[in-house]
Amino acid sequence: MTPKKLRLGVLASGGGTNLQSIIDNCQQQTIDAEIAVVICNNPDAGALARAEKAGRPHLCINHRDFKQREDFDRAVVAALQEAGVELVVLAGFMRIISAAFLEAFPQRIINIHPSLLPAFPGLHVQKKALEYGARFSGCTVHFVDGGVDTGPIIIQAVVPVLDGDTEESLSARILQQEHMIYSHAIQLFAEGRVQMNGRRVQIKGAQDNQSALINPPL
Ligand code: GRF
Repeated sequence: MTPKKLRLGVLASGGGTNLQSIIDNCQQQTIDAEIAVVICNNPDAGALARAEKAGRPHLCINHRDFKQREDFDRAVVAALQEAGVELVVLAGFMRIISAAFLEAFPQRIINIHPSLLPAFPGLHVQKKALEYGARFSGCTVHFVDGGVDTGPIIIQAVVPVLDGDTEESLSARILQQEHMIYSHAIQLFAEGRVQMNGRRVQIKGAQDNQSALINPPL
């Protein structure tokens, strides 16, 4: 008997490269998960075409068709429940999640953000990291709570900021890591290894990473 796979609902608004890496890892069975549904709030989202090409169920629920945020969220929650989704994966989903949505999937909604949270929440964060003069940036997979990029952190990847970096080159370096850590985080859920301990998330069986990163190097 093949073991049961974790059913994912992926929400995206844009190009969907994170979605693509999850699709690829599901297909290659490098993660024990399957995409039950892809939902986009934007009819032009590249993510819809990627889901179509991969033969995964997908639909557009256009937020502009709803007067209230809560009504839009209710429609999204209904579609996720209908698809039997166990873990909601926000992959470039540019909408704030309401309380009713959070209550429908307690500790079951995760997001990826292209900075080392809690530094630089919100939008245009690679540009902000460059302007600030940060020596490191990276990406964060975190639980979604009521705030903007404030939920408990599950996994982070660090990349150096290089002297010649532009917003584009830094974003590309971060995105490469996003594609790796998001699928890894999903696999941790599939293995039942993610535990909440207040704000701190514990990963059962994870090894300690003792190495410091210094930029510029000594
Ligand atoms: C990623 O940088 C993600 O961290 C942010 O939005 C971007 C989405 O990229 N939340 P893509 O649509 O997955 O290519």
